[in-house]
Amino acid sequence: MLYENLHPKGTIEKFLPPDKFMGVLDGEAPKLASDYAVDEDESTRLEYIENKPPLSNMQNAYDFEQVAKNILPKDAWAYYSCGSDDEISMRENHYAYQRVYFRPRICVDVKEIDTSTTLLGSETSVPFYVTATALAKLGHPEGECSIARGAGKEGVIQMISTLSSMSLKEIADARIPGATQWFQLYINEDRKIAKEMVKEAENLGMKAIFITVDAPSLGNREKDKRMKFVNDTDVDLGDTVDRDSGASKALSSFIDCSVNWKDIKQVKSWTHLPVLIKGVQTVEDVIEAYDAGCQGVVLSNHGGRQLDTSPPPIELLAETVPVMKKLNKLRPDFEILIDGGVKRGTDVLKAVAIGGKDVRVGVGIGRPFLYANSGYGEEGVRKLIQLLKDELVMDMRLLGVTKIEDLTSRHVDTRRLIGREAINYLYDSVYIPIDAVKFSNEN
Ligand SMILES: Cc1cc2nc3c(=O)[nH]c(=O)nc-3n(C[C@H](O)[C@H](O)[C@H](O)COP(=O)(O)O)c2cc1C
Repeated sequence: MLYENLHPKGTIEKFLPPDKFMGVLDGEAPKLASDYAVDEDESTRLEYIENKPPLSNMQNAYDFEQVAKNILPKDAWAYYSCGSDDEISMRENHYAYQRVYFRPRICVDVKEIDTSTTLLGSETSVPFYVTATALAKLGHPEGECSIARGAGKEGVIQMISTLSSMSLKEIADARIPGATQWFQLYINEDRKIAKEMVKEAENLGMKAIFITVDAPSLGNREKDKRMKFVNDTDVDLGDTVDRDSGASKALSSFIDCSVNWKDIKQVKSWTHLPVLIKGVQTVEDVIEAYDAGCQGVVLSNHGGRQLDTSPPPIELLAETVPVMKKLNKLRPDFEILIDGGVKRGTDVLKAVAIGGKDVRVGVGIGRPFLYANSGYGEEGVRKLIQLLKDELVMDMRLLGVTKIEDLTSRHVDTRRLIGREAINYLYDSVYIPIDAVKFSNEN
């Protein structure tokens, strides 16, 4: 059961050498005692599943998160929700949006609102897309396929992870006719495999390749690690327990940490598809990507799962646009995408407005779609998109904008964006301040 949640069909056939094949299992695999055990937490979870709120009660992205938190198995919740170290970047990703204010214009005819636009030349009903996340099957048996159907039916683009729990072919087969899918690539140490992946993505009709570069080593995801550790220790295994485990670690071993700009150029030479770099965290690297001939970048810190205290992408976007403009390094076929911490229609509009007339900005949303899919499958994905779309329509009306292309940097006030106080809950939970100086009548 665990294996199937993590791996697409055909993985064994594709990657295990034939000499490891020992024969066909006769009958059923023996069950472990732990497969039957239902502890207190598990029975609470099962009760939550039975009493899950109807989809019609979902009002926003947070509602899906609340449902997911209670109905997901503990290890799946830990894997999806965790960030790295003190999770400062993870939380700042969202908080930073709250430091951008609107400059709403009034007395604009806002009878007709159109939220559609294009991203990398493909039409989309909204300026946001479902970004690449691994292991959707941990939350829902139809995994990335129900996300594909839900997004496709709502005219929303889906980016598919190298580490999907279903095969690229299965996810491409689930694509709604006319829908757009992009492929996210982790460059495999074996370049032959990496090249085959790109070719397969091309053949299966993916419309762009995103090379993720922010994970040469896995971030320190302590919640994920601890979960694995706790679940495994019904007996005391002393020091023999692999404390480094957890879904994240198990997945990442093949990613090549030697990837550099030469490899990016090599990937470009393999395909006619647009190639973009995902996980860019400085203006300098946006410039490098531009100079390398990429069709764009994703400003992202991997949802705060990699280097903690790397900058919130919305802050980096506000820094990047003026610099690229000044250097005259913006061209119509260079798009800047951004992900991390997006929960609301207002967040999406703020990012697009910062790009304004200078650069087209698309906004990726990760965890909220995993949560919606975990709770309600395809219908959950659709519902979340509809809620965000409704928010966009209302927000655009209130902002005095009728089309996405009309959003400009004059619609946002970014003056308060820099300067923050990031709470460190972990630090605070163990920190004991020094005692105050004592008076002589105190002991
Ligand atoms: C559970 C999970 C798995 C992820 N897997 C991948 C992945 O396989 N490849 C990748 O490029 N990014 C991956 N990401 C990062 C996302 O693409 C994206 O950068 C991040 O989720 C955006 O932040 P958000 O979740 O706050 O929207 C993952 C993120 C999460 C939460």
